[in-house]
This record gives sequence, C-alpha cells and structure tokens, in this order.
Amino acid sequence: MAHRWKSTLSHADVTPYDAYLNRRQLMGGALGLGLVSAAGMARASQADLELNSWEDITQYNNFYEFGTGKEDPFKHADALTTDPWTVTIDGMVERPGEFDFEDIMAEMTIEERIYRLRCVEAWSMVVPWNGFELSDLLAMAGVKPEAKFVRFETLYRPDEMPGQRSAWIDWPYIEGLRVDEAMHPLTIMATGIYGKPIPNQNGAPLRLVVPWKYGFKSIKSIVRITLTDEQPVGTWEQLLPREYGFYSNVNPEVDHPRWSQADERRVGGGLFAKKIPTLMFNGYKEEVASLYEGMDLRANY
Ligand code: MTE
Repeated sequence: MAHRWKSTLSHADVTPYDAYLNRRQLMGGALGLGLVSAAGMARASQADLELNSWEDITQYNNFYEFGTGKEDPFKHADALTTDPWTVTIDGMVERPGEFDFEDIMAEMTIEERIYRLRCVEAWSMVVPWNGFELSDLLAMAGVKPEAKFVRFETLYRPDEMPGQRSAWIDWPYIEGLRVDEAMHPLTIMATGIYGKPIPNQNGAPLRLVVPWKYGFKSIKSIVRITLTDEQPVGTWEQLLPREYGFYSNVNPEVDHPRWSQADERRVGGGLFAKKIPTLMFNGYKEEVASLYEGMDLRANY
C-alpha cells in the first residue's frame, strides 16, 4: 500500500489549518444526509473543538517502548519498521487468523473522528484521527457469544524499540476492554491523523482509540487481539494496581492517588495557559454512560 509513513514529512506537508477546517465543515454538512450514528453525533457536537497542531500531536507522546521522555518517541520511532505488519486475532472467535494490515485496510471504511485525548497525567489534546470502528475489525474474525473481554498486545521488538531493553515494564504492552466497550461505535482503530498515515510515534500502523478512557488504554502498534472470558490485566494495572484500574474511565470526581483529575492542561496552550475542567467520560457521557449503569465508578476506577 502507498500508505506507509516514512518519516519524510516536512512542515510544508502539513495540511494548512484553514483548509482543514473548511473540509471539516463540508463533512459536517454530510451529517444532514441521515448518516448520523452515535459517533457522528459525538463528532458534530464537537465541531467547536480546536484541533491540536500536527506538531503537538506527533512530538509530545507517550510510547514507553521508545523511552519515557515526551520527545523520545518522536526522536526514536523512525527505527520501527511497520511493513509488513500482521494482526493476529485469536481466542473466542469463529475465524481466528493472522490478518495482513493491507488486507484489513482493504475491508475497512476509513473515516475521520475528532476526539479529545485525556492522558491520566492530566494533559489533553484534540486529535483528528482517521480510522475504522473496532467492531468492524472484530466482525472479520466473528466474536463468539462466550467472549466477554478483548485483550490487546503491542509489538515486542527490542531491536527497534530501545525502551523495551529495560525490564521495568513486563513487555509487551498489554491493554483490555470489555466486549461491549470494544463494540461501541466510538471505539476505533486509528490508522491516520490529519488525513496522513499515522506516524510511528503515535502507534503505526494501527492503534486503539477509546476516547472516554484515560489515554493509556489506547494501546499502540497492535499485533494481537484476543477474545477471552477472563478480564485482562493491562500493563499499568499490573505495575501499579492501586493507581490504574481496568476501567480507567475519565472521571473528574475520582482523583489519582497522587494528583487531582478535576482539570487538565491542553497541550500547545503554553506554560501559563489556564487549566480547563475535565469532563465526565471525557465529554462522551451521553454516548457511553449506559455501559456503566449501576456500577460504582469509584470502586471500578
Ligand atoms: N501504547 C503503548 N504500546 N505504549 C505506551 O507507552 N502509552 C499510552 C497510550 N498507548 C502507550 C501506549 C499513553 S500513557 C497515552 S496518554 C497514549 O498512548 C498517548 O498517545 P499519543 O502519544 O498518540 O498522544
């Protein structure tokens, strides 16, 4: 596919911001055609969100496989080869197998989703992702009714990912969702940003985006997806279970043991920018609150 990001982008390649906003307005008009899904409505109600720049989104990252500094992924992720790439889908599925990334892309409908991204560290961005609904990918393999959870695994390749040479994390990076969370129309696999193939540092060639959860749930550079009836233990939950729970829904009322989650700093706003209030479920309450009806969100953090 002519779709692989080779890190040759220069500033001139960045979509001019005005042109991009105009295109978004056109797309917003298409919502009047009766194509409004839950995700479409979420997108429409966010038309006022100010996008972060390409530079913000691609040069301030968390991707510990490349180091713990915010600029490490941008500096080191060029070394990652993402072609060829396969995703194994196994466990409780009708048609387990190893799916070639290009074959997946040929089957999927790519659309734009403008979502807030709220890191558990209390910074946030607004990102124009391109991608497809995770439910469409899972349908390729056919989820069996007994499956209750989805477990995701990142590539393990210490030759190309220098952070994986230190053992304080039990690599590979793992994350998990309940099946109903995974099937929710807001849950996507992102393969692009600003209409360009997703840069390595953001999780090429495909990464999860679950916009109502803290960013660490949105696992990058996925090579394996396993349907299971056991609740997966994610990397952060395994390291610090008191601080990072399985659910990790964005919740301004439940503080992290070491800091407040009531507000957040929008990346790119400058050092002295005012913090903004964090929204319940990161602003997606209307779409997702019903998934957690009757649950104690303090106990299930
Ligand atoms: N996925 C992997 N494999 N490794 C990581 O270190 N960091 C997570 C998440 N996915 C991480 C990961 C965290 S903490 C956040 S906030 C988001 O990726 C950041 O995504 P971004 O760099 O595209 O903004």
